[in-house]
Amino acid sequence: MKKVNIAIFGVGRIGKIHLKNLLRFPGVSVVAVADTHYPAEEFKKEFKDVFFSSNPDEVLAMPEVEAVLICTPTSSHAPMIELALKSGKHIFCEKPVDLSLERTKALVDMANQSSAKLMLGFNRRFDPDFLQARRSIQAGRIGDIQIIKITSRDPGLPPLDYIKNSGGLFMDMAIHDFDMARYMMGKEVKEVYSRGLVLVDKQVGEVGDVDTALTTLIFEDDTYAVIDNSRKAIYGYDQRLEVFGNKGMIQVDNNQHNRNVISDADGIHHSLPLDFFMDRYAASYLNEIQFFIDALSKNEPIPVSGNDGLKATIIAVAAKKSVLEGRPVAISEITAGL
Ligand SMILES: NC(=O)c1ccc[n+]([C@@H]2O[C@H](COP(=O)([O-])OP(=O)(O)OC[C@H]3O[C@@H](n4cnc5c(N)ncnc54)[C@H](O)[C@@H]3O)[C@@H](O)[C@H]2O)c1
Repeated sequence: MKKVNIAIFGVGRIGKIHLKNLLRFPGVSVVAVADTHYPAEEFKKEFKDVFFSSNPDEVLAMPEVEAVLICTPTSSHAPMIELALKSGKHIFCEKPVDLSLERTKALVDMANQSSAKLMLGFNRRFDPDFLQARRSIQAGRIGDIQIIKITSRDPGLPPLDYIKNSGGLFMDMAIHDFDMARYMMGKEVKEVYSRGLVLVDKQVGEVGDVDTALTTLIFEDDTYAVIDNSRKAIYGYDQRLEVFGNKGMIQVDNNQHNRNVISDADGIHHSLPLDFFMDRYAASYLNEIQFFIDALSKNEPIPVSGNDGLKATIIAVAAKKSVLEGRPVAISEITAGL
C-alpha cells in the first residue's frame, strides 16, 4: 500500500509525541520536520533519518508532502493552515485553530470548501476509556443523558509566557473539556455560565487570566454539563468524567501509576494519577493519529472536523465573556456576528 507522506511543523512537547508515534506507523513516511527554533544538531541526535529544516516554507513547498501536522504555538496555526490549504495539503492541527473567532470561522470555511481534509487535535476523544464511555452512551446503556460532569485539573502552572500567548484557561485548557462535553452528549450547547478565580498564583491574574474555573453548559434540550478546571492539583493530573442518565451512570476515573492498593493501620492507599498529558493521554495520541492516517489513506471522514474546532472555540469565547461580565452568555450572542 502507498505510504502517506507527512511533514510535521514544531517539535516541542506535542510535536515530538506525534513524531515518535508516526515513526511507528508502517503506512506513513515522515518526509520532513520543520521547527524554527529547535537546534538541528539536537534533532539529528534523536532522529537521524528524518529530514529537518528550520524553514517551514521550504517544507511546505515540498511537492511530495501530502499532509502536515501543525504542532507549533497557537499564534502560528492560522497562517500555516492557510498556506497548507492553498498548497492542497491535508492538515492535522493542534487546538485551537486561532484565538480569533472570526479567523477560525474563515479558515474552517476555507477548509470546508477545499478538497483537503482538516482535523483538530482533540485527542481526548480517542482515549480508550472515553471512547468506551461514548460507545456505552450510544448503545443506550445509561438511557437519556441528563448531566455530564468533567473534572480537568493540571498538575501545575505552565510558564507565564505560555499563559500570555495561550488565549487563557478557557481557550487553552478547558477547550478540551468543551469538546468532550459536546462529544459525549452528542448535542449542541446553547448557553455558557463560567466563573473564574486566581487562586494558584497572582501572576496569572496580572497577565489577565484565571487559574481556577467552574463552567455550566446548557445544551439545546436544557440538560447540563458541569466542568471544573484548575491549573494546579497538588496530587497530579486529575482527569475524571461522570455521565448521568435516567438508566444509570458511567464514571471514568484517573489512570494511576499502578493499580496496587495498600491497606495498613493509617488507611487504604493507592498511587497518584499519571503525571501529565504526555503519559495520561499517550494512547489517545496514538489513536488520534491512526484515525487521521486512516481518513487519508482510506478516504474516510475526518473524526474531529474544523467545525468541531470552531464550536469548541465559540464555547471558550462565551466562557471568557461570561467571566468578564458575570452572567450567563447565550451561544447566539457569540455567533450573531459570524
Ligand atoms: N492536544 C494536546 O493535548 C496538546 C498538548 C499540548 C499542547 N497542545 C497545543 O500544541 C501547540 C504546541 O504546544 P507545545 O506545548 O508543544 O509547544 P512547545 O513550545 O513545546 O513547542 C512548539 C514548537 O514549535 C516551534 N515553533 C515555533 N514557531 C514555529 C514556526 N512558525 N514554525 C515551525 N516551528 C515553530 C518551537 O520552536 C517549538 O519547538 C499549541 O497550540 C498547544 O495548544 C496540545
